[in-house]
Amino acid sequence: MVGKAADGKATAVACANIAFIKYWGRKDDALRLPLNASISMNLDRATTTTTVAFDPALERDEVVIEGMASGVEAVGRVSAHLDRVRGLAGITTRARVASRNSFPAGAGIASSASAFAALSAAGIAAAGVAMDERGLTVLARLGSGSAARSIPAGFVEWYAGDRSEDSYAEQIAAPDHWDLCDLIALVQTGHKEVASTRGHALVESSPFADARLAAAERALPVVRDALLARDFDVFGEETELEAIRMHAVAMSSRPSVIYWSPATLAIMLAVREARADGVGAYFTIDAGANVHVLCREDDAADLDTRLRAVPGVLDVLVNRPGPGIQWVSGHLI
Ligand code: PMV
Repeated sequence: MVGKAADGKATAVACANIAFIKYWGRKDDALRLPLNASISMNLDRATTTTTVAFDPALERDEVVIEGMASGVEAVGRVSAHLDRVRGLAGITTRARVASRNSFPAGAGIASSASAFAALSAAGIAAAGVAMDERGLTVLARLGSGSAARSIPAGFVEWYAGDRSEDSYAEQIAAPDHWDLCDLIALVQTGHKEVASTRGHALVESSPFADARLAAAERALPVVRDALLARDFDVFGEETELEAIRMHAVAMSSRPSVIYWSPATLAIMLAVREARADGVGAYFTIDAGANVHVLCREDDAADLDTRLRAVPGVLDVLVNRPGPGIQWVSGHLI
């Protein structure tokens, strides 16, 4: 698997993903090796499109996101990732990078996942590096852990691994395996206050870190089996509890991190109320205030109405299981 041409320019589209078993904490920061394996679903309507164009005339990498030149920090992280691509290609040429999201960045919709998946795929194609899917998940992981899971299509597991090459992601079920919907109740569209990178670093300071890790390791095969068997209630119950455990660790870290806003809690309670009324719905929450409400197609319209009625909900984005990484010909630059 690799994108087209080696004329120095390539464009890739990647979906964001929502984790059912979360990546929260690392055993190796530099290699981004996670403490535990995780499982996610790609989100078909939450995508990042990125063009990478290598140009010998450039003295440094240039990064434009949503039409705006990026600051030093963002350029530094993109450049460091392009250095990995350049290392593989045996080149030193700098690049122009342009990127667009179909959703608000930094709002807990894992924008770094789609961003680094698209950057990795566009980067290797632009540099003419041949790579299989597994290798590409490893490369994407080095940019942002959860990006590894945005490379394969549909439902994906990322194995923790003890060495870089063993910490990769692969598909466990295709997008059409299950009619699962993720209704993202948006309560915040600005940048979240505490980046996930910082959250990962604080995990060990929580007295609940070991308990959460053990619980996540127990829950992972249950979630995988329930997903494969399309057992919605077992799947939903485990997924919801895993999110609460991740946030319990964040809240009890030192310093403490609270990602929720009052509207986040209101949605969590609304989901439980819907469940009491017989609607199949469970929530999960990443490192932000927005709530991902999981349901099946039959309940999506009813839930959409219920969620929009919760005070503080700005919008509801409906996502279904999304494709894997795709290379396209419509360049942004
Ligand atoms: O890949 P990062 O560093 O943005 O971390 C992602 C962390 C969570 O979204 C909270 C969980 C996950 O597994 O996606």
